[in-house]
This record gives sequence, structure tokens and C-alpha cells, in this order.
Amino acid sequence: MQQDSLFPLTTKEYTARQINIINSPKQSGHSDIDSEPYLKSLGIDIINKRQPIQFSPNVNEAIHRWAPYVQGFSASFVQSIFSQYSNEYKDPIILDPFTGCGTVQVQAKLNGFISYGTELNPLLKFIAEAKLNSWDVSTKELLKVYNKLDFSKTINAPSFLKSDKHFSKEVLTNLESIKGAINNLPGKTNERIIDLIKLAFSSILVDVSKLKRSPCLGYAKTKKIDPHAPFVLMDQKIHQMIEDLKIIQTEYSEFINTKTNIFLANAMEYIHSNRFDMVITSPPYMNGLDYVINYKIEMGWLDFASSQLELKTVKDDMVVCDNVSKGLIRNFRPLYTNDWIEDIKSSIKKNILKRGKYRREDMPFIVHKYFDDMFRVMSKIVPQINKKGRFILVVGDSLIADVYVPTDLLIAKIGKSLGLKIEKIEKARIRRSGQIRSYKLRESIITLQK
Ligand SMILES: C[S@@+](CC[C@H](N)C(=O)[O-])C[C@H]1O[C@@H](n2cnc3c(N)ncnc32)[C@H](O)[C@@H]1O
Repeated sequence: MQQDSLFPLTTKEYTARQINIINSPKQSGHSDIDSEPYLKSLGIDIINKRQPIQFSPNVNEAIHRWAPYVQGFSASFVQSIFSQYSNEYKDPIILDPFTGCGTVQVQAKLNGFISYGTELNPLLKFIAEAKLNSWDVSTKELLKVYNKLDFSKTINAPSFLKSDKHFSKEVLTNLESIKGAINNLPGKTNERIIDLIKLAFSSILVDVSKLKRSPCLGYAKTKKIDPHAPFVLMDQKIHQMIEDLKIIQTEYSEFINTKTNIFLANAMEYIHSNRFDMVITSPPYMNGLDYVINYKIEMGWLDFASSQLELKTVKDDMVVCDNVSKGLIRNFRPLYTNDWIEDIKSSIKKNILKRGKYRREDMPFIVHKYFDDMFRVMSKIVPQINKKGRFILVVGDSLIADVYVPTDLLIAKIGKSLGLKIEKIEKARIRRSGQIRSYKLRESIITLQK
């Protein structure tokens, strides 16, 4: 449904971009209404099922709380999926192709389920594995190694990052001491203990910086950090880990050896040799977050990247976001398209021409690449799903240059073209469009079945 603009153009004080936003026909619009023709074509309805799917409550959950993460699942959401299908699958084998910090795999292990994952960001793979592979670490040994850290040999902050802008001088000196202490741990130290200490270090970096993630990394205007915060927060994190390991070793001891495998791999290309009962995942959202730039501080300090070029190389392999390199889009050769994608592309093209200028003029191709990337991922996984198995995806839809993009319905359509049945699409949350704040978007849970 289109609406007349809310504000007539009477003033010269607005920028061209603001004028486009103010005069957008999508002001006060709603994705549910714009979805109607697509839903009709698929022959389905969207079910309203509000639920807490986001990572934030995990700050109170053992293991999950070891690393702060913004774009992950809540443990309770993953558990609710396991419970929903507990009568259908006995000991299901689980996959999350977009592992992130490993919420799905940690929750699977807490249930004794074998799980797998792929993840392209080496830092996130490291975080997921440190959370998954340390369950039998001796808490006494961890404390002993931690207490013996030698802070006298410092190691300089990563040179490609602007660390003197990210941290106060005193905090930076203290971080360089902690990094020095970790890098100089004796060679015979248990690797998994080193990983836990590195994980603790990575998890405090943004907290002690002048930055915040909300969800993108940016400067926090009013943030005062005590110079000793790195030591205090490290101490708290290590003690939190010890507390959680004690719980795991008493209450979940039977699952300590449950197998998990996370591969540093591109989900668009990785050929799985295992079969799965449930794939539970959340891909990057189109137009959304850059999973490399957002974690560049931790990637640099933990030696997972040593230059901007290395960061860019990881980013360009990912499912596309609108921060992608122009050259990558210029060279994009699609494997997949459909009539919806082509219509959406030409509407975006038309609107960009009408506006005269847009932040990415190659946006129609970025949108196309997003669905092409998702097709590549899904077509690698679907053959590995057992009969009656499920592919569950959480995604958000988008509004781009006044064109509604029904990401959830398009992903369901791709699933259908690969032979899956669309079992249900649930609306879990209402979101606001980044550009037109009055336009309501949704976050959906798509359940597809083989
Ligand atoms: C929304 S996050 C997943 C969060 C995860 N469900 C959790 O709860 O921790 C998406 C993840 O996909 C990863 N990613 C993006 N493109 C990828 C690709 N082509 N192959 C593998 N991982 C990719 C990103 O690095 C990011 O960690």
C-alpha cells in the first residue's frame, strides 16, 4: 500500500537523502502488507509468534556468556526448537552453517546432540571452539595458569588498527601487558587453557575501549573506563568461566565428550560428508552487518588478521552485505534467479534512477548476489538433510530504495525450488527499517522440511 508523503517539500534545509526519506511512499508502511502478493503466490500465511530469539539473555547462561555477541541466537530459542521436535528425532544431528559464536552447537552439546558448523571468520570459529572444547579443563589448572601470568613482557598493539584512538593510553598499556603475558605462556601450557585465557581477553576488549557495538562498532560518546579495567574484567571473566566449568563438570558430565566439529569454511562451497536431522541457522541479513569490520578489534589483537587487506579478503568471501567491495559485485555471475528477484531488481534500479543518487548504485546486484549466495549455501546442505529433517532459518526482511524485499519468503521459495516443503513461517519480532523508521519490518523463523 502506498501513502502520500507525510511532509511536503517546503524547505531547503534537508539533504537530498533526507528529502527522499521524507517523501518515501513507504512512510508508515508495513512489510506484512507488502508481502501479501508473495504470500498468495506461495499459498501460505505468516503465523504471529513473538519470541525472544536474540542473543542478549545469554549473558546469564553458562558457557554462552563467555563471549559477548550481538547477532546470535538466544540459547532459549535454540532449546525451544529442540523441544518442539523432541518426539520426532531421537539424538538429532545438528548443523549451523553460519556458526557465529556457536550458540547452536553449545546448546546442542548441552543436550548431548552431535553438531557441526561452518564459519568464515576465524575469530568467531575460535570463540565457538573455545566454548565447546574446554568442558573438561581442570578449573584448578586454569586458575593456576591465570594467576601465574607474567605481565612484565609487553607486546605492542596490532599496528594496522588505530589502537591509540580505540583505547585510553593507560588501558592500552595494560592490554599490551596482558597480551604479552598470554603470548609468553610457557610452551608446555595446556592449549585449551591458553584458548580460554585468550577468549577472556578477546571478550573484554570492546568493554574497555572507547567503542561500543550497537550492533555496529562505533565510538561511544560517554564512556569512562578505569585504567585497571582490563585486569578487573579479565579476572571476572576467568572466574565466570571457572564457575561455569564447575556446573558443566557436575551437571552435564555425560555430555562432555559429545562430538562437535566447526570447520573454517565457506558455507557456499563446503561439501558436507555428514547427514543432518536439523539445520538451525541465521545467515547475515541483507543490508545488515559486516561480520569482519565489527570484530576487527578482536581479530587484530588475537592475531587473526594483520592488515586491512586480510580483513577485506575474509569479508569478500562472506554472504554479501552492503559494505561489500564494488569489484566483487562487478564480477558477480549469478547461478540462480527467479521472477521475484528480477522484479525487485528492476524496481530498485528504477527508484535509484528516479532519486538520481543512492549510497550503492549497484544495489540491485547486491540484492541479487545475496539470494544467489543463499541459494549456493542451501543447495550444498539440502542433499545432506535426512528425510523428514528440517532446515530452520531466522532472517529479517529489508526495504531498499523504497522497494520491499521479502527475504524470508524468498528464502522459502529457494528452499521449495530445492525440494523442501514450506512448513511454516513465523513472525518472531517486529523491526524498524534503518532508512524509513516508520516502516515496519519483521524477523521471521522459516521452517522447511525435507
Ligand atoms: C547471524 S551470524 C550467526 C550467529 C549464530 N547463529 C550464533 O548464534 O552465534 C552469521 C554468521 O555467518 C558468518 N558467515 C557469513 N558468511 C559466511 C559464509 N559464506 N560461510 C560461513 N560463514 C559465514 C558470519 O561470520 C557470522 O558469524
